[in-house]
Amino acid sequence: MQPELQHEQWSSRLTFIFAAVGSAVGLGNIWKFPYMAGVSGGGAFVLVYFFCAALVALPIMMAELLIGRRGRLSPPRSMERLAADGAHSRHWKKVGWIGVLAAFLILSFYSVIGGWATAYVPKFVAGTFRGADAAAVGAEFDAMLADPVTLFIWHTIFMIATVWFVARGISGGIEKAVNFMMPSLFILLVALVIYAAVEGDFAKGAWFLFHFDFSKITPAVVLAAMGQAFFSASVGLGTMMTYGAYLPRSVHIPRAAGTIVVADAFVALLAGLAIFPIVFANGLDAGSGPGLVFVTLPLAFGAMPGGMLFGALFFILIVFAALTSSISLLEPVTSYAEERGGIPRRVLAVVIGIVIWALGLFTVFSFNLWADVHPLGMIERFREATFFDLIDYATSNIFLPLGGFFIAIFAAWILDRATSQGELDLDDRWYGVWRFIARYVSPVAVAAIFIYNLS
Ligand code: PHE
Repeated sequence: MQPELQHEQWSSRLTFIFAAVGSAVGLGNIWKFPYMAGVSGGGAFVLVYFFCAALVALPIMMAELLIGRRGRLSPPRSMERLAADGAHSRHWKKVGWIGVLAAFLILSFYSVIGGWATAYVPKFVAGTFRGADAAAVGAEFDAMLADPVTLFIWHTIFMIATVWFVARGISGGIEKAVNFMMPSLFILLVALVIYAAVEGDFAKGAWFLFHFDFSKITPAVVLAAMGQAFFSASVGLGTMMTYGAYLPRSVHIPRAAGTIVVADAFVALLAGLAIFPIVFANGLDAGSGPGLVFVTLPLAFGAMPGGMLFGALFFILIVFAALTSSISLLEPVTSYAEERGGIPRRVLAVVIGIVIWALGLFTVFSFNLWADVHPLGMIERFREATFFDLIDYATSNIFLPLGGFFIAIFAAWILDRATSQGELDLDDRWYGVWRFIARYVSPVAVAAIFIYNLS
């Protein structure tokens, strides 16, 4: 093995929690969850999502944190080290590689959507949405997507911000960013739910989210909900493993993971409760896709007194939430490159950032110049899918579950009990519960959902 690099550690338990919640809470909660729930028919999707968060994402997050803290290195290296310690196959390292690849792909489109949110801040400041109706708000959004130059510019700005934080390292950049942003976002989101309850069609919105129509549970919906559970919790690609590598020994992993998963699901739910009442009060289409929040929120803010100010503020917080996630997507790759030695973190973050930025152009053009390019058009399921749709689908529905599957197998079947129980710090009974779920329930659920979808 190469000479060893000592990574920094989180300066406190709380900063770790903020950073990990910051990673989990992001566009996945505020942008993706509502639109996916809308496209997939509401309650059925939400129910399966909750099941997957509890029985798949949570145990795998614990596995990632424990592997990270024991390995103390980037995902491929931590896996390699732990495998070597137990005289297991070196191929386990490749699981880390699946994660690195997934992080590249996710960040490439994440930055573009983060750019959309950033672009909305000046729109609010300029008063664009004051008193606007649904048609006007929709037209504004469509016009933005149709313009590749606008998307290009905002994608670039968002990527520069991400690189800026990662280049500064853990304590200098990431910790500072998360400490005040997450609490503010939460408070504004609660305020927005109250607004939606008063002004929107709350009953219909809540019905849509919580009414479980079992006939709507199709294989595709189950797969989408599982993919969302992985994506939203930042699990399956080594983000949590990387954050775990910086984790002080004093942190209790199961409690931390529980906090992160619950906070993440709760924010998604709040976002849904803020958005669907507005959707139904305005006769909008719940299944309209990725533009959902970019149409409903401006509509709500446009109708309220002081709405332009609150709107600008809210979108600033979305941007921050997105940044704390995009940072966590760039960090695993950067930490891996850093371990190879010789090149300073700053340079690595910039170079990797540029590669991912270039990859992001596929997403930028998916909404305009290449809107009619369907690379897998010969396959029925992907007949209409753009590059963006395919990258989004492949990462959430294939890469993350696959990565998560192997991480669970490694932590619960391959690692020896002393290591995993020691890191998790659980008594025999609770350790047994975790191991049972991580051995049987999570991997089998992932495998079953995969197979069910192929048939
Ligand atoms: N969980 C983040 C979100 O919900 C996205 C993300 C996925 C971040 C995977 C890191 C790793 O926005």
